[in-house]
Amino acid sequence: MSGSRMSPDYDIASPGAGELFESLRAFGYDLPTALADVIDNSITAGARNVWIDLQWAGRDSRILVRDDGRGMAEEDLRQAMKPGSLSPLADRAANDLGRFGLGMKTASISQCRCLTVLSKTKKSAPSLRRWDLDYIASTKTGEWRLLKRLDLLSASDHALLEGQKSGTVLFWDRLDALVGDASVDDDVAQKHFRERADAVKQHLAMVFHRFLKGRKAVNLHINGRQIEPWDPFMEDTGFTEPQVTENLACEGEQAEIKAFILPHHSRISADQHSAGAGPRGWNAHQGFYIYRNRRLLVAGDWLGLGMQKEEHFKLARIRIDLANSADLLWQIDVKKSRARPPAALRQDLLRIARATRSRASSIYRHRGKVIQRQLNDKETFLWTHLMKHGKSFYRINRDHPLVRKVLATSDDRAPVRALFNLIEQTIPAPLIVINNAEKPDTFSQPFEDSPAELRKAMEAVFDAMVEDGRERAEAARALLLMEPFNNHPELVSAFLDDVVRKVAAQKK
Ligand SMILES: Nc1ncnc2c1ncn2[C@@H]1O[C@H](COP(=O)(O)OP(=O)(O)O)[C@@H](O)[C@H]1O
Ligand SMILES: [Mg+2]
Repeated sequence: MSGSRMSPDYDIASPGAGELFESLRAFGYDLPTALADVIDNSITAGARNVWIDLQWAGRDSRILVRDDGRGMAEEDLRQAMKPGSLSPLADRAANDLGRFGLGMKTASISQCRCLTVLSKTKKSAPSLRRWDLDYIASTKTGEWRLLKRLDLLSASDHALLEGQKSGTVLFWDRLDALVGDASVDDDVAQKHFRERADAVKQHLAMVFHRFLKGRKAVNLHINGRQIEPWDPFMEDTGFTEPQVTENLACEGEQAEIKAFILPHHSRISADQHSAGAGPRGWNAHQGFYIYRNRRLLVAGDWLGLGMQKEEHFKLARIRIDLANSADLLWQIDVKKSRARPPAALRQDLLRIARATRSRASSIYRHRGKVIQRQLNDKETFLWTHLMKHGKSFYRINRDHPLVRKVLATSDDRAPVRALFNLIEQTIPAPLIVINNAEKPDTFSQPFEDSPAELRKAMEAVFDAMVEDGRERAEAARALLLMEPFNNHPELVSAFLDDVVRKVAAQKK
């Protein structure tokens, strides 16, 4: 240490660069969250396009993030490369997605051992800065040596910025976590690389969905393909039920809360339903969605309010909008993957969560009942639920048209009755409960993959009703309300069209 800095009052205790960088790597980012954090910077810098390239080349694989934002002049770049480039306590522009002055460095370094940033503005030539962890370790000085020679990058790397007036490129080299020492023709490693690229795409589609649409949309491109937004509230379907918007204030900060009841799968197409599941599945994505400056931080969580994620609440998704000035109050973390509501808001959030959950689960509970009430008779369901001496019991509905027909037309009813009884008594209810709890989304819907079988069942029930003396028109109406045909109105009406045609043909 130089003599001029010696003081009787203090020691200078700068951390060693190598050691601190190694610790900063362990913040807990993964590839998708790390990329989202650097894309925040691009968006804050006014980029209209961000190109993310994940280039497979075994141990020489790289990830590039290029934007056409305003870029950085040399001195700004030097400052931006410092860990803690801006204090988290500083006031930020209202649309700034940053907070801690760490993201670009910690996110990048969590994934690669060599981060190079090349940037230029409308007024300044490209400048370059690089943190190379292996180089820093090799100097054995502990110095924070930020490399800066332009020729650290190849001509083709430099060419990336030539076509634009301003912008920034991040180069992530030596991706030790993602590929390590894999060789180019290591198929397993390459497959893993591709899968991670796919996870990145899904994550970005979710985190930035509100930026990817509208007049001032930002275009995110991953390996040349544009990322389509994933809207957790499925407002495009037209079947989501938005609830009233509430504004909650706490310590001068506003939080806007809006709950949504998502459409039951019977109201939307199978494709829409599976898209709605999101990266983690329907069950996992229930709960609160916290946005900070429209950027998603938390994608479905009951926020420690003492509520569990349960199957029948999966249509409940609640949006919370915060400004970046609320960061401290809501305890935003560096990775921007966590936020905690202030204690003063817990009661209100609990109330909103309860109301939303109850509304969402009632869709499941009442769906059948509503239809049954409309029909006001006993033939809608094949199964009926009974309580006997406080115990649940499921019974095949003897009033169902097809059941009635089978009973009426068998010469000997005893074996049919015995069979029904056996089925009722041996339903593997405990097994169904367990399977449903473990893998709720793997249960198939009735006749999901066999429209032809569904059609046969429909015919049989319809014929039974007609043979029983029912008017065709009335039988048709009953069919439309009957489970499971009520979930397929399009198939029922196609079937009825056929019936009408046949009747007309017979009359001729
Ligand atoms: N793509 C970019 N374009 C322009 N400026 C950038 C870009 N990325 C980072 N910066 C600058 O570097 C600074 C530090 O970024 P970062 O480490 O992510 O911390 P924070 O975003 O919290 O400020 C930013 O505040 C910004 O000034
Ligand atoms: Mg940032």
